[in-house]
Amino acid sequence: MFNVEMYKGTRDDQYELVKKQLKALIEDEPNRIANLSNASALLNQFLDRVNWVGFYLLEENELVLGPFQGLPACVRIPLGRGVCGTAASEKKTVLVEDVHAFPGHIACDAASRSEIVVPMIKDGQLIGVLDIDSPETNRFDEVDQKHLEEFTEILVNQL
Ligand code: SME
Repeated sequence: MFNVEMYKGTRDDQYELVKKQLKALIEDEPNRIANLSNASALLNQFLDRVNWVGFYLLEENELVLGPFQGLPACVRIPLGRGVCGTAASEKKTVLVEDVHAFPGHIACDAASRSEIVVPMIKDGQLIGVLDIDSPETNRFDEVDQKHLEEFTEILVNQL
């Protein structure tokens, strides 16, 4: 059974615990859908002030909706389009303080105000992105970026 933790200490401490929880959840489990589903649920119960947490997976040059927590979302995103498609084509994390100021932002949940998208790279190849939306502007910073990139790396190694 999953133990709900009281995340204590600094944000670094809290993220360290989440990464430990992720390792415990996915080790010994080869199923990609199961691991992505648990990873999105883990982040969703950990992060405050977020309204969407999930994955888009690369399929024939476009991103296709994967396991997530939140409102139903757009299913297919071409590479280079929106925040997800930009992070995917540049293979770099994109942090958007205000989605209304991001040209080409794709609105899936009207409540979203800021967003972070982390590319998932396995053996040098893009396999998808982790996408997190918040109803608050400027919700995500470099601390989130650093740890979410490490979180994604742990996850990708098991996919
Ligand atoms: N806003 C994203 C689309 C995905 S939803 O936020 C879940 C984008 O611009 O790529």
